Amino acid sequence: MIKLEKVSKFYSKNKVLDEVSLFIKSGEFVSIVGQSGAGKTTVVRLLIGEERADSGKVQVGDWDITRLSRREIPHLRRQIGVIFQDFKLLPKKTLEENISFALEVSGGSREKIKKIVPSVLKIVGLEGKGKRYPGEVSGGEKQRAAIARALVHQPKILLADEPTGNLDALNADEIIELLLRINNFGTTVVLVTHNKEIVNRLNRRVITMDSGQVISDKENGKYLL
Ligand SMILES: Nc1ncnc2c1ncn2[C@@H]1O[C@H](COP(=O)(O)OP(=O)(O)O)[C@@H](O)[C@H]1O
Ligand SMILES: [Mg+2]
Repeated sequence: MIKLEKVSKFYSKNKVLDEVSLFIKSGEFVSIVGQSGAGKTTVVRLLIGEERADSGKVQVGDWDITRLSRREIPHLRRQIGVIFQDFKLLPKKTLEENISFALEVSGGSREKIKKIVPSVLKIVGLEGKGKRYPGEVSGGEKQRAAIARALVHQPKILLADEPTGNLDALNADEIIELLLRINNFGTTVVLVTHNKEIVNRLNRRVITMDSGQVISDKENGKYLL
């Protein structure tokens, strides 16, 4: 469950979020759309505790993020997987090492790592490619590896910020299929995108943002802008 109540955020004097309120039920697949600069990534950064709201309340599950101490952020981050347009894989680590690193930094045991890494690689269809470096696989495969890494803690929520922005149409479709499959397992998926075709085809709930505000929120919505 994700809940924003009248959340505002300033960068110096610029108001980039203007009393944004939204509620996403557990298990939903929601797209957040809007033009560049609308505030979509800012919403993502608030949800993962990377930025703080200046006013209003941000809640993820039982967590009131607006009151979260710095110490609690790693715990929150295990509940929320996140992927980005530029994959953010470490280039000097293999795909497998990128994934296991996410478990190592949170103190995962060797046994746990040995079990989880192959299982998430399988979910994203990268069995047999774990030993490759990011530079040795396609963009679509890099994003799959990033998704695998995002799944290591079995998060309740997966945030995908423009996950198909660097991919051609075919690879983009495959990533969306994968997100839908992950949603079918019960994970809440929030897809941030400005790709009209994808959103129209998904035929799921669409929240549209413009200039830091939610301007529409529709079930089976279409891209408005
Ligand atoms: N760290 C930052 N410092 C100053 N301004 C920022 C920062 N991050 C984002 N902004 C501004 O906030 C607004 C919203 O940005 P963002 O949330 O990234 O939009 P979107 O993801 O919808 O393109 C933009 O005007 C952007 O320039
Ligand atoms: Mg953005």
